[in-house]
Amino acid sequence: MKDKIFVALLLLSLLLQGCANNTTPASTAGNEIERKIDSLLKQMTLEEKIGQMNQVSFSGENAEARELVYKGRAGSIINITNPELINSLQQVAMEESRLKIPLIIGRDVIHGFKTIFPVPLGQAASFDPQLVEDGARVAAIEAASTGINWTFAPMIDIARDPRWGRITESLGEDPYLTSVLGAAMIKGFQTDNLSDSTAIAACPKHFAGYGAAEAGKDYNSTFIPERLLRNVYLPSFETAVKAGAATFMTSFNDNDGIPSSGNKFILKQVLRKEWGFDGFVVSDWTSIAEMVSHGFCKDGKEAAEKAVNAGVDMDMVSELYQKRLQELLQEGKVKQAVIDEAVRNILRVKFRLGLFAKPYVNTGAEGVLYAEAHLLKAKEAAIKSAILLKNEANVLPLGEHIKTIAVTGPMADAPHDQLGTWVFDGDKNHTITPLKALQQQYGDKIRILYAQGTAYSRDIKTNGIPAAVSIARSADVVLAFVGEESILSGEAHSLSGLNLQGAQSELIEAVAKTGTPVVTIVMAGRPLTIERDAALSKAVVFNFHPGTMGGPAIADLLFGKAVPGGKLPVTFPKTAGQIPLYYAHNNTGRPWQGGEILLNDIPQEAGQTSLGNTSFHLDTGVEPLYPFGYGLSYTTFEYSNLRLSGTQMTASDVLTVSVDIANTGSYDATEIAQLYVQDCFASVTRPVKELKRFDRIPLKAGEKKNVTFTLPIAELAFYNIEMKKVVEPGDFNLWVGPDSRDGLTSSFTVVN
Ligand code: GLC
Repeated sequence: MKDKIFVALLLLSLLLQGCANNTTPASTAGNEIERKIDSLLKQMTLEEKIGQMNQVSFSGENAEARELVYKGRAGSIINITNPELINSLQQVAMEESRLKIPLIIGRDVIHGFKTIFPVPLGQAASFDPQLVEDGARVAAIEAASTGINWTFAPMIDIARDPRWGRITESLGEDPYLTSVLGAAMIKGFQTDNLSDSTAIAACPKHFAGYGAAEAGKDYNSTFIPERLLRNVYLPSFETAVKAGAATFMTSFNDNDGIPSSGNKFILKQVLRKEWGFDGFVVSDWTSIAEMVSHGFCKDGKEAAEKAVNAGVDMDMVSELYQKRLQELLQEGKVKQAVIDEAVRNILRVKFRLGLFAKPYVNTGAEGVLYAEAHLLKAKEAAIKSAILLKNEANVLPLGEHIKTIAVTGPMADAPHDQLGTWVFDGDKNHTITPLKALQQQYGDKIRILYAQGTAYSRDIKTNGIPAAVSIARSADVVLAFVGEESILSGEAHSLSGLNLQGAQSELIEAVAKTGTPVVTIVMAGRPLTIERDAALSKAVVFNFHPGTMGGPAIADLLFGKAVPGGKLPVTFPKTAGQIPLYYAHNNTGRPWQGGEILLNDIPQEAGQTSLGNTSFHLDTGVEPLYPFGYGLSYTTFEYSNLRLSGTQMTASDVLTVSVDIANTGSYDATEIAQLYVQDCFASVTRPVKELKRFDRIPLKAGEKKNVTFTLPIAELAFYNIEMKKVVEPGDFNLWVGPDSRDGLTSSFTVVN
C-alpha cells in the first residue's frame, strides 16, 4: 500500500513540476516573487507589516524619517526628490533596518519632471498615443534619475465640466480617447519592464468618478449610478489595468454617499474581482481621514477600519493605519489576512520595480534633466497640442508681408504660468515664452513691438492698454497672448465663470478697434467662454498650458514652420450655464430640432407652446462654441467615399470602415480623422454618438489617401438594462469626419 502512495505522490510531484516547467518565464518570475513575499511575510512583525502600508511625506533631511525607516514604520515616502537624500534613506532601509525592505518613492510627475510638457488636456488634443507615451518616457527618465520610482499619474478621470480646475490634468471628456492615451502614458512611465532603471510605477487616478464633482467644485460629491459609472467613468481605469498599471489611487469624492477610500464595490468587486488587478491601491492625500468629515466614519479609527477592509493598501500621510490598525486587529474589526493581503500587494510592486535588487539611484547621472532631446520632444508635443479654432481670410500663417508685429497680453512672457498646474519640479527659468521665441527667431527680420497690456490674467487695471493700442496701430498684425495664470486651474481651483479674467477682453477689444488684424493666442488650463474675444479676432490658436517649449512651438505655428493640427479633447461651451455640455449626450424624448426661436427673436406675448417644446436653452440653444474633436488647419481636408465592409454584422464580426481623405489645400498637414458610432435604440438610452476610433493621417498638399478603421463589433458593448455588458442587436449609425459634429455618415445593423 505504501508503495502505491509513494508512486502516487511521485507522479503528483512530477506532474506539478511538469506544470511548473511548462510555465512561461513571466509566471515563473511571478511565482518567484510570490515565494519571496511569502518568505518575507513570515518574518515580518505586525508593526513592520503596518509600516509598509504607511506613506509619509518628507522633503528634506529629517531624523524622524530615518527613525521611521529604521524601525520599518514607513514603506513609502512622498515628495522627496534629492537623490543623495533618497539614497541615504534607502540605505537605512536596506542596510540598517531589520528586514531590508526598500522604500518606494512617490512624486506627482504629471506632465514632466524638469522638462515640462503641455498639461495632459493639451497632450490629449494631439490625439497622438505615441507622443503621449514619449512624453511620459521623458518624464520617467528625468524623475528616475533623481531616485523617484513612482508617479501619481496618469490622471484618467473623465472630465465634462470645465468649471472643475482638474480638467486640466485629465485627458478630456471621452472614455475612448482617455483610455487610449492613459494606456500610452502608463507604457511611457513603466516601459515593458518595470524593473528598468528608468521605469517608474504608474498610478492611474482618481478611482473613481471624481470628474463628475457636482457644480465642478473640487472634492464635491458625485452621484453617478452604476450603469453610468461602468459605461463612462470606469473604462479608462479598466484599460489601465490591462496596460499593466502597477498601482491605483482612490479619489476624494463620495459617490452616491460612499467615499472612494471606503468603497468596497469599486475596490474589491470591480478592481480586484472583475479586472484582476494585483498591484496596490494608495489613498489620496489624507482621503482616509477625510471620511470622517464626509460623515462616513465616526472617527479616524473607523476610517482606518473601513479603508483597509474596502481594499486601500497604503495610507497616504493620514497615519491612521500606523496609529489604529493594531487595535483594530486586536478588536477583530480587521482580520490579519486583510493586512497580509495589503502588504503582499505592496511588496509585489516593490519586487516588480526591482527595488530589492537595485534600491539606489546613480547620483552621478549627468545631462538627463532638460536634455536637448527632451526639450525637442516637449516642443513637438506643444506643436501637436495646439488647436487652431479660427483663421479668417487665412491670416495665419504670417507671411513675408509682415514687417511689424505687435505683441501684447499677460501670457506673452509668463514663464511660470505657461507651464500650467502640477509643476512641482519644473523650473520657470527654462521656459521659453512666445515673446522670447519670436524675438530670438524673428527679431532680426521683423520689427517686434511689445506692450503687455495687462500684467497678469486677473489684472483688472487698464492703464497698460493704451500702450498696446499704440503699438497695434503701427503693426501689420497684433498677437494677443491671453488666458489663465497656472494657479487658476488644477486641484482645488474651480471657477463658476469661464470668461477671460481681468481686463483681457478689454485689451482684445481695444487693439481690435485699431483695425489691425488680431491673432489671439490663448494659454489656459481649461476651455474658456471666449465667443466675444474670438469674434474680435481674425484668428484664434488655443493651447492648454503648453509647457517649457510653448514659445518656440507657437512661433513655429504662427509663421508656418509647423501647421496646427490639434483637435479639442473637450467641448467648449458658449456660456458656463450650458455646463455640463458634452458631445456624447443622450437624445432625450424631445431633442433640439434646430429651428427653435432663440431669446432675442421671441415675439412679445409669444404663445406658451410657440417656441418648440424641445430640450435647449432659450439664450444659447444647444450648440457649443466649439465641439469635441474640432480643430482647423492651414490646409483643408475633404472626406469622400465612405464604405463599410458589411451592413449586417454579428457581435463577433469586425467591421472595416474605409474613407478617402484628401488634402485640398496648399500645406502639408496631418488630419485627425475620427470615427463615431450611435446605437440607435437599446434596452437603455444610449449617447447620440461615441468616439470609437481615431487616427492621425499625414497628407501632403494635394494628396489623397484611403484610410481604413477596423472596429470589432464587440467594442459596441455597453452595460444594459440587466447591468450586463453586451452588444444588443439593432440599428447603428456611423460617422467618419473631422470632429464630433461633421463628417460622412452610414449605417449598419447588428443581428443575433
Ligand atoms: C493630491 C491629489 C493627487 C496627488 C496627491 C499627492 O491631493 O489629489 O492627485 O497625487 O495629492 O500629491
